[in-house]
Amino acid sequence: MKKSLITLTILLMTGAFAYAEDRQMHHHAMMQSKKTTEDSRTSLKLKAPMRDHQLSMMREHLRAVNDIVSDIATGKFEQASQTAHQKLGLTPAMKKMCNRYSNADFKKLGLAFHRSADELGDVLTSGDVNKSLNALHVTMNYCVQCHATFRQ
Ligand code: HEC
Repeated sequence: MKKSLITLTILLMTGAFAYAEDRQMHHHAMMQSKKTTEDSRTSLKLKAPMRDHQLSMMREHLRAVNDIVSDIATGKFEQASQTAHQKLGLTPAMKKMCNRYSNADFKKLGLAFHRSADELGDVLTSGDVNKSLNALHVTMNYCVQCHATFRQ
């Protein structure tokens, strides 16, 4: 009787240890996966009105890229060029907007992005699909690079 009680105690303790170890490993895995999905981008620390404004500008940028792709596909290069210059290029309004950001690297990247869009606008007038797509790719690299580096 006494011997079986000891055996039972040992069995229960082994089970408890195994459970604790399993929990710890699970926790460790969770922490690791959290690390990989953690947002380590630089925050611009934007205030509410600026946040909404930035996001609405961004949706406009996406729409412009969409229009340009469609215009290239249907051979409307003049139209695509105008969209690039007017919606993505470094217009005085766009320049003013970029200069409102306090983060110097963000500002620099933003201005370089808009300048690349003006180059895209120029290349588009050639009517050359490959050259145009290449120029669009250069501009879109700025979208990708900035999104990987900064958040609101
Ligand atoms: C200089 C930096 C920069 C460039 C260049 C840039 N963006 Fe953004 N974009 C941002 C930031 C910052 C956010 C907010 C991201 C966050 O806080 O998670 C954003 C958000 C967005 C969003 C989300 C909008 C929403 O309503 O949630 C879209 C779409 C977007 N960008 C499209 C684009 C496209 C398309 C381009 C290029 C043609 C582009 N952006 C270029 C900085 C940039």
